[in-house]
Amino acid sequence: MEIIIYITATILLWALSASILLPFLIFFKLNKTYRDKWFSWFFVNLIKPQLSPTLARMRKHAFNLLKEHLKGRKTNIPLEILEIGIGAGSNLKFYPENSNLTVLDMNESFIEYFEENLKKHPEVIHKKTVIAMAEDMHELEDDSFDVVVCTYVLCSVKNVRSVLNEVKRVLKPGGKFLVLEHVMYPDSTWNATLQTLTSPLWNIYFDGCNLNRKNDEEIRKTGFSDVVIEKSYPKDIWMYIRPKIVGIATK
Ligand SMILES: C[S@@+](CC[C@H](N)C(=O)[O-])C[C@H]1O[C@@H](n2cnc3c(N)ncnc32)[C@H](O)[C@@H]1O
Repeated sequence: MEIIIYITATILLWALSASILLPFLIFFKLNKTYRDKWFSWFFVNLIKPQLSPTLARMRKHAFNLLKEHLKGRKTNIPLEILEIGIGAGSNLKFYPENSNLTVLDMNESFIEYFEENLKKHPEVIHKKTVIAMAEDMHELEDDSFDVVVCTYVLCSVKNVRSVLNEVKRVLKPGGKFLVLEHVMYPDSTWNATLQTLTSPLWNIYFDGCNLNRKNDEEIRKTGFSDVVIEKSYPKDIWMYIRPKIVGIATK
């Protein structure tokens, strides 16, 4: 039954995009500034409230996994954290105690939402904001972070391989890469086909987000010393973004 709903939704999305939504589609495709502004507003005001309870559950699980991997850490020494693709800072409430935070995002429109949210978390020490692509983080030094956090970002970056290499470069030896992402269903399934068919439109409406990436495989190929990845299919999430990975890679 669900598959019929999603086949219908995919056909409808294409039909609407080829007709009444076409002017918006062309406008967004051609105008990155407005696309960035639209996406930050849409994400904060419509997607986040709608998906927040489910996403919060997954974020909590991811950070619990991180805390397990940091067991035995001396909490009197600040943990240097870099969060790439910070968005509105939805992870702030989950950070381990005594965290020094550097944030990076390519979309400046998110920063005002992040700064507003940061005021609610005085326990987090914000050190620096960098507006840049995660593919090239030359402003950040080699071996300088204990943890890099990346949640729902690898789906959107231009070049996953470059981002993962940069993450590995800026992590200290033994540093942890915490990742939470949506990925593609296994090949040759109906759901994977629908993700692939929907992805080109989704990419334009959702500022570069791809539905059909296999980022779990990419992380394993990056040359981390240890990679632990859990995959799940939470039923209460839209099928297009349902397959989830939560993982920790150690440099
Ligand atoms: C779907 S939002 C997720 C925001 C936040 N990480 C969260 O979990 O709520 C994706 C974020 O990644 C950022 N982003 C996408 N591609 C990026 C890139 N290549 N470099 C840096 N930031 C990027 C976007 O601007 C946006 O803030």
